[in-house]
Amino acid sequence: MKFFIDTANLDQIREAQDLGVLDGVTTNPSLMAKEGISGESNVIQHYLDICEIVDGPVSAEVISTDFEGMVQEGEKLAALHPNIVVKVPMIKDGVKALRYFSQKGIKTNCTLVFSAGQALLAAKAGANYVSPFIGRLDDISTNGLELIGQIRHIYDNYAFQTEILAASVRHTMHLIQCAELGADVMTGPLHTITGLLKHPLTDIGLEQFLADHKKASQVKV
Ligand code: E4P
Repeated sequence: MKFFIDTANLDQIREAQDLGVLDGVTTNPSLMAKEGISGESNVIQHYLDICEIVDGPVSAEVISTDFEGMVQEGEKLAALHPNIVVKVPMIKDGVKALRYFSQKGIKTNCTLVFSAGQALLAAKAGANYVSPFIGRLDDISTNGLELIGQIRHIYDNYAFQTEILAASVRHTMHLIQCAELGADVMTGPLHTITGLLKHPLTDIGLEQFLADHKKASQVKV
């Protein structure tokens, strides 16, 4: 399973990268705004900064909602760096743009996916990644994880190459259950990755080992 971090915060991206388990980054316009990044040249520089830190796919989202606009923006973004993946919303013109980018060899991530039908469309259109938002489904009392299982089943039936990128992952149990269900990738905030480290028995066990080692080294023979 690949681990992507879902943020535009460079310090957090560096921290995940330093841990040695980071495979890529996803961003969205809200995450960019949260870091105070605005204006075309700043946005472009920020994507380049992210690509400098992580050697893996970096999703950069288009803002246009019409086919021509998405194509124009997507081609510009893709030309920035070989690791850029153009993030396209699951709307009618988005599906057309996915097909266009796929024919041009430009990598895509179809975002804002909330149903198996949408995931099927994205795969048919040649998306490289499909992003079902599990946390946002949970927010409206719908089981987001069930959707991951459904998409896995459908993609396996037809050997679709589109990777399932479980998005809107909110906590470590989401991540673990996505891994059990066979999601290819998960994207979440830093704490969804670092949270995997934690277990009280690890801390208690380590404390005991170190105390015993210290005691033994004080014993005179
Ligand atoms: C995915 O690419 C999105 O950026 C993201 O996972 C959305 O997560 P949220 O629902 O926590 O905002």
